[in-house]
Amino acid sequence: MQLSDPALFKTEAYINGLWTSGADGQTYPVTNPANGETVAAVAFCGRQETVDAISAAEQAQIHWRALSAKERAKLLKAWHSLIGSAQEDLARILTAEQGKPLAEARGEIAYGASYVEWFAEEAKRVYGDTIPGPSPDKRLVVIKQPVGVVACITPWNFPNAMLARKIAPALAAGCTVVCKPANETPLSAFALAELAERAGIPKGVINMVSGDTVEIGKELTSSPAVRKLSFTGSTAVGKLLMKQCAETVKRTSMELGGNAPFIVFDDADIDEAVNGAMGSKFRNAGQTCVCANRFIVHDTVHDEFVEKLSAATGELTMGSGLDESVSIGPLIHEAAARNVNALIDDATSLGASVVSGTSRSLPGACFVAPSILTDVTDEMRVFKEEIFGPVAPILRFSSDEEAIQLANATPFGLACYFYSRDVGRIWRVSEALEFGIVGINEGMISNEAAPFGGVKESGQGREGSKYGLDDYLEVKYLCMGGV
Ligand code: SIN
Repeated sequence: MQLSDPALFKTEAYINGLWTSGADGQTYPVTNPANGETVAAVAFCGRQETVDAISAAEQAQIHWRALSAKERAKLLKAWHSLIGSAQEDLARILTAEQGKPLAEARGEIAYGASYVEWFAEEAKRVYGDTIPGPSPDKRLVVIKQPVGVVACITPWNFPNAMLARKIAPALAAGCTVVCKPANETPLSAFALAELAERAGIPKGVINMVSGDTVEIGKELTSSPAVRKLSFTGSTAVGKLLMKQCAETVKRTSMELGGNAPFIVFDDADIDEAVNGAMGSKFRNAGQTCVCANRFIVHDTVHDEFVEKLSAATGELTMGSGLDESVSIGPLIHEAAARNVNALIDDATSLGASVVSGTSRSLPGACFVAPSILTDVTDEMRVFKEEIFGPVAPILRFSSDEEAIQLANATPFGLACYFYSRDVGRIWRVSEALEFGIVGINEGMISNEAAPFGGVKESGQGREGSKYGLDDYLEVKYLCMGGV
């Protein structure tokens, strides 16, 4: 992998400031989805390591929460600076285990680091309140305190950024964390832990275990010492974790699946819409929760949009993300590719046409060619399910009401997009769409200053922005009498 700092390549769990082998020295392989080669043998942890990690986080929280916000901010800033200096190595590790093109991996490292910087600054702005009391002898005050030990369970699609945007606000608020990165991509997580240690973040404040997902998940959700779970992943797993957390009434933040509509109105700038569609649909080979999932295009601009999107899609080059000329990498594993192909088959069997894509030759078993489907209907699985692959299904509409009805016809509510130049329509449509994030004439909506999160079955809570700290803080009311 040719790292300039090989010590960033860690394969063991990180518990109480020590790199630790798994139960009985067991390991599991992490593979490069572009070619199936083994990248590393990683420590396979289970229940006992998770118990140890929780206990370390509990101990460390006593000291960590007692630091001033300024001291915590200083350590987060030092971590941010080290992540920035290691960007290239971190990107190479990320591409090797996840598959995305290096340029995107570099972007992800910068994106993850932006949350660390943001929350280092926000740490100093955890304000309380004074409330005018109902009687003259009382004074009412609200203070905010850290939730406690937080479990962070993160996915493989953004192995760096999803973790950074949970750990940074947790630490800023005075919480400590036990992290369970996805088994497919633990190396990016461990490298972040190594840099946190170098930044001077005390032992036990950040802990990471990877391995037996079920056992680790059970311990994290049942331990009374863990006061909160922050999860990014599928809606199905999110629901299960919420049920498991109910027993100890843990707070939860859930960033779950999406089914983003992308509406192109008749007054849209079609070239801009195609640009936005390319970014939104094909980033990370279509494997983001906010990827455009259904294109809903006005009858009068449908053919032009399809033709231009098809031409732009034809320019995408598939291959190993470590090859700088590649613009679209593999899916995470063969099962993911099989699932996306099954969605295409379902659509074509129900009358959809493949305009471009599926006839291209593939560089490996985990690849799916970027594809466009037309004549799609709301009966098809591509309309109803999160595709998580480089497939763009296109439906037609003829009135604003119809577009909004189609867009909202899903239990998901994370991101949505639309293109229009009519100011009145922009307000009406923005207010009618049942989603947590609305991209208006814009396909790239994620950044650290904005609240990221969904409604309906896409989850609860917000990450990033001034709202992102609230998820890690308890509100405590002090009532002073006899004044
Ligand atoms: C996700 O896919 O869960 C996150 C995508 C983003 O942060 O833009």
